[in-house]
Amino acid sequence: MKQIIENVLLELQNVKATSVQEVEQLKIKYLGKKGLLAGLFEEFKQVPNEEKRKFGALLNDFKTKIEEKIEELKNGLESVHSPDAKNDDLTKPSNLLSLGSLHPLSIVKNEIVEIFSRIGYVVAEGPEIEDDRHVFGALNFPPEHPARDMQDTFFIELREDDNHALLRTHTSSVQVRTMEKQQPPIRIIAPGRVFRNEAISARAHCIFHQVEGLYIDKGVSFADLKQSLLYFAKEMFGEQTKIRLRPSYFPFTEPSAEMDVSCNLCEGKGCNICKGTGWLEIMGCGMIDPNVLDASGIDSNVYSGFAFGMGIERIAMLKYDIKDLRLYFENDLRFLKQFSSAY
Ligand code: DAH
Repeated sequence: MKQIIENVLLELQNVKATSVQEVEQLKIKYLGKKGLLAGLFEEFKQVPNEEKRKFGALLNDFKTKIEEKIEELKNGLESVHSPDAKNDDLTKPSNLLSLGSLHPLSIVKNEIVEIFSRIGYVVAEGPEIEDDRHVFGALNFPPEHPARDMQDTFFIELREDDNHALLRTHTSSVQVRTMEKQQPPIRIIAPGRVFRNEAISARAHCIFHQVEGLYIDKGVSFADLKQSLLYFAKEMFGEQTKIRLRPSYFPFTEPSAEMDVSCNLCEGKGCNICKGTGWLEIMGCGMIDPNVLDASGIDSNVYSGFAFGMGIERIAMLKYDIKDLRLYFENDLRFLKQFSSAY
């Protein structure tokens, strides 16, 4: 009998139960009317009187151990399946889910669109998969211009004719699409994704975002361009911001300029962000070349206009002091969560 008890105690150490039914079956097996313990008590009757004391104590101890084990198994099940009754308040509000946030590029894009919409610009869109005419031809790029080169442009299909399918390399293509279907006055702002065949690094990426602006009407002058962009710079970077326009070249504008804003960090004194110059380059702009107007059916003898284009990544970098372009596309939550209260 002693041997049986020892074996059963050993066996019990490893017994596990995953349901109430299993625990119930174990209880019947060990403690039931016809169970193991009942059998042992039956045998106990045969034990000679002088040993009854010793075996009686052994049996009672065995019974307690089995009862404890059964209780333990039951409790184990309860803690898994039924949460503490005190926590079962169905009227309690649910746990708050953590909210996502806008991507820094969306925040900056929305801000740019909003600033221009206050002076009458409306959003325009165009396709990302374009053709030569809308990205280059109608924008006065000569056929041999290096920007059409395979090094820069992702071509999707190479065809014999001029009309290669390609990924747009700038949002200036939306200018053309708008001019083709609308007569002046035109005042559009066109944010979008652009593609260039660049090696990915901290300072370059093959996918990035631009915002294009276009204003065409009778009598639009360079003074209008300058004042509109000054308004934008002050709204975007603060009232104290100054701008300067440096002569530049783009095929689709004449004259063309590059616009710098005064560096807010060092207030123009020169720091490592503005590379000691006190100025930060943020966009290209200029008066629309008459060839561009005429190519899309707008009479350059009647109308004039200006255009500008800027990179959203660059502006967000300056605004949030982001040092590596790749961060925008890696979707690292530690980066993205920093902008959750930024809009
Ligand atoms: N499309 C130019 C680029 O991708 C940016 C640009 C420059 C747009 C001058 C313009 C402009 O509209 O007038 O770099």
